Amino acid sequence: MPNAAISLRLQINGHLHDLTVEPRVTLLDALREQFGLTGTKKGCDQGQCGACTVHVDGQRVLACLTLAAQVEGRTVTTIEGLGEEALHPVQAAFLEHDAFQCGYCTPGQIMSAVACIREGHAGTDDEIREYMSGNLCRCGAYPNIVAAIRQAAEASR
Ligand code: FES
Ligand code: FES
Repeated sequence: MPNAAISLRLQINGHLHDLTVEPRVTLLDALREQFGLTGTKKGCDQGQCGACTVHVDGQRVLACLTLAAQVEGRTVTTIEGLGEEALHPVQAAFLEHDAFQCGYCTPGQIMSAVACIREGHAGTDDEIREYMSGNLCRCGAYPNIVAAIRQAAEASR
């Protein structure tokens, strides 16, 4: 028997949303299926690939391992909320450096990269590789991803 639905109020990309879901619903499924925010990708759905990376209160989290109920009262930012007015500098750097091929991993890479720079973990290419290691790219665009993050990090200093 399904668990009783719960009512939540979530702040996503600056907007408040009311939501009624079963307690087991992940933030990833809520974003994609309830709010149509399909920029956040479902890769492995088990915390292995980083495709579902979003920010909660400015920190990067894996939306597939986070319950929607856990983020009530907190601030969620997805790739759709990152560059609403103009491209975020990290988005622009990814474009400039051709840091994607199929693009499936790209929203997660960008959300992770923004946080990585903010955390101060983008000082060298090795550091970028280490702190971006949770974001996999099956197309192997890693050299260009690192170059894009390096440029965005340098521009932010
Ligand atoms: S879909 Fe969340 S880590 Fe792969
Ligand atoms: S660009 Fe295709 S998986 Fe990364």
